[in-house]
Amino acid sequence: MEAPPPATSSTVCVTGAGGFLASWLVKLLLSKDHYVINGTVRDLGEGKNAHLKALENAGERLRLFKADVLDYGSVAAAIAGCDGVFHVAIPVTSGRPTNPEVDIIATAVTGTLNVLRASHEAKVKRVVVVSSVVAVFNNPNWPTGEPFNEDSWSDEETCRKNEEWYPYYLSKTLAEREAFEYAAKTGMDIVTICPALIMGPLAYRGSERYICSSTPRKLSDIINTSKSLYPAFNYPQKFVEVDEEQNTRFSSEKLEKLGWTFRPMEETLRDSFESYIDIWLDVDVDFVMRMRMWYQRYPMDVDYSIF
Ligand SMILES: NC(=O)c1ccc[n+]([C@@H]2O[C@H](COP(=O)([O-])OP(=O)(O)OC[C@H]3O[C@@H](n4cnc5c(N)ncnc54)[C@H](OP(=O)(O)O)[C@@H]3O)[C@@H](O)[C@H]2O)c1
Repeated sequence: MEAPPPATSSTVCVTGAGGFLASWLVKLLLSKDHYVINGTVRDLGEGKNAHLKALENAGERLRLFKADVLDYGSVAAAIAGCDGVFHVAIPVTSGRPTNPEVDIIATAVTGTLNVLRASHEAKVKRVVVVSSVVAVFNNPNWPTGEPFNEDSWSDEETCRKNEEWYPYYLSKTLAEREAFEYAAKTGMDIVTICPALIMGPLAYRGSERYICSSTPRKLSDIINTSKSLYPAFNYPQKFVEVDEEQNTRFSSEKLEKLGWTFRPMEETLRDSFESYIDIWLDVDVDFVMRMRMWYQRYPMDVDYSIF
């Protein structure tokens, strides 16, 4: 039988609870005694989100809801009774996207608006929307060489120039814009976080926008550091060097003023490797393939700056 939640508790909803970032967030929230978490997943089946149920305190304080953020009713049911909401899910339609305008861009906006509307109706005190630095740096009007800060917004036309990535760029940019418009219209307390490549937990406060990015890293730096730490694995050999000048820089000063600190890359890599080794040690799969999964959005045969 489930134990009752603590006497003074806050209930928060985490959308897309089974995802990479959201799982860490759920774990973090479960480690604080006073949170009861309504996590949304699209599949309540045993396999996919078993890692959530296995988290410490999950039995007492994590409730999983089957919800698709594109289905207002399902997401409203998960948010009802919540004090706070973390909208982390990247809403995508099921199956391979055939029309990025609809399957990626419009769904991101609709999903975010559904979460915001449900939160407003449930009188949620604060919603944290996870955006991305992609909603920040596609801005041709930003002074060259100046680190991007929260005043910079990606421009639709510039996003569209990137053939491969424009659906993601635009989906994050438009969804974040809609979130602030919704906040202005309703007075709801909405915070957005714009992370770069995520390698650590998240922080938030106030009705604001926060960039969360440490120093730019080239993929080759990460591979070289990984090699020095774990020389026994196979690593990709093929890199296209990126001009240093083109490395996009961000300022996370605003977040750092709240006390946020970045972990050293070595520490993060070591933790990541140890967890992969733990999970995959007995699995007969090339480690490089696993690294590819880790960098699923950063193909390994190109040397990207890690935003
Ligand atoms: N990872 C990064 O480096 C990075 C960097 C910057 C920003 N971000 C942002 O951080 C957030 C989390 O990223 P992540 O890397 O953790 O993503 P992820 O592991 O791919 O997780 C995404 C989650 O969204 C859920 N989802 C997809 N479509 C949905 C829908 N229609 N309704 C409800 N849930 C849905 C997925 O659930 P299923 O399991 O059911 O598919 C999954 O749990 C995203 O908003 C992303 O844009 C990530």
